[in-house]
Amino acid sequence: MKTVLRLTFLSAVVLLMLVGTAQMSAAWDNGLALAPPMGWNSWNKFGCNVSEALIKSMADGMVSSGMKDAGYQYGVIDDCWQVSRDENGNIVPDAQRFPSGMKPLGDYIHSKGLKFGIYSDAGEKTCAGRPGSIGHEYQDALMYAKWGVDYLKYDWCHTGKRNAEEAYATMRDALKAAGRPIVFSMCEWGTAKPWLWAAETGNLWRTTGDISDHWEGKKKWPDGGCCSLGMLDILDLQVGLESFAGPGHWNDPDMLEVGNGGMTTNEYRAHFSLWSILNAPLIAGNDLRNMTAEIKEILTNREVIAVNQDALGRQASRVWKEGDFEIWAKPLKDGSRAVLLLNRGGQEAEILAPWTVLGYPEHLSATVRDLWAHKELGKFSEKFRAKVASHDVVVVTVKP
Ligand code: GLA
Repeated sequence: MKTVLRLTFLSAVVLLMLVGTAQMSAAWDNGLALAPPMGWNSWNKFGCNVSEALIKSMADGMVSSGMKDAGYQYGVIDDCWQVSRDENGNIVPDAQRFPSGMKPLGDYIHSKGLKFGIYSDAGEKTCAGRPGSIGHEYQDALMYAKWGVDYLKYDWCHTGKRNAEEAYATMRDALKAAGRPIVFSMCEWGTAKPWLWAAETGNLWRTTGDISDHWEGKKKWPDGGCCSLGMLDILDLQVGLESFAGPGHWNDPDMLEVGNGGMTTNEYRAHFSLWSILNAPLIAGNDLRNMTAEIKEILTNREVIAVNQDALGRQASRVWKEGDFEIWAKPLKDGSRAVLLLNRGGQEAEILAPWTVLGYPEHLSATVRDLWAHKELGKFSEKFRAKVASHDVVVVTVKP
């Protein structure tokens, strides 16, 4: 009898533990961002110069440029839309810049078949000095839900000694309590290694400091602090993070600079291709109202976007590097590989991708398709080689 009782007690404990674990691991299954989020954000091009008119015209641009049809969804207002809190502690949008208020703006974005994103910060103030959400998390989340917000980017300025894991979990719980599905984009810059814990907290997490619109090289901030990063500096910091990403939880190497003028067309093609194969969120940051044909072609290349959005959700690894030449590869759901040849050097070069480096046996015969030329290149075995222009990429699929 005693043994039976003890067994029953033990099974109850085990059962409780299992239920507890199931609840814990279900804590952040908000069912969103099963593929990396795609959209547009105001910061990289417009900084604090945001307004209702600007955001509406970008939503229009997202539709008329064909970006919506190519998969872009979220229109995100970054910092500076908020000015103060009212006597009840509610966040107050800038009435001059957003005269109709946030709910009508959200309605407008939704009427275009798009989704509405907004920005706040886990500290006392945002990075641009506007009111942050500390102590107001539940109140802010309810307000966002009331406005019809679908995406929150949550920054890390003025957080003092706050613990990142706790601070982000508080806003996660607040969003959950608000009852509206909201993609949670954590912008903690990789300081507390969010890839180790944030799959339980958010849908995406920044892995580095801010991108700036140039190919390579750290640049000091205007105040002398270090540093904004070039596109390749950020790329190098992604090596080794690939195992932490997957459907619903992505590494975020920061938003796109494609079309902002600081890089050449080749360099922007490389930037877009690299972000795509890295399963980065594809959040454009340029002026969608007047894009050149080349920039539009880059941002709407559906074959490259399909690599980013592939249902398997595996982020590419750097499988080979020698000096300025690199090969990045990622497995796709159908068993093929997306392969990116990167030439960081100043001259055109031929880069050779042996099957063994891609994780395929040498004897395999595979069809290679060029995703920028939109062309089948034929059947190859053992290896594939291609000439790659300076500061450019060749992106192919290799399909057995
Ligand atoms: C930080 C973030 C940027 C942007 C600005 C806004 O620097 O990393 O992406 O949101 O704040 O002030």
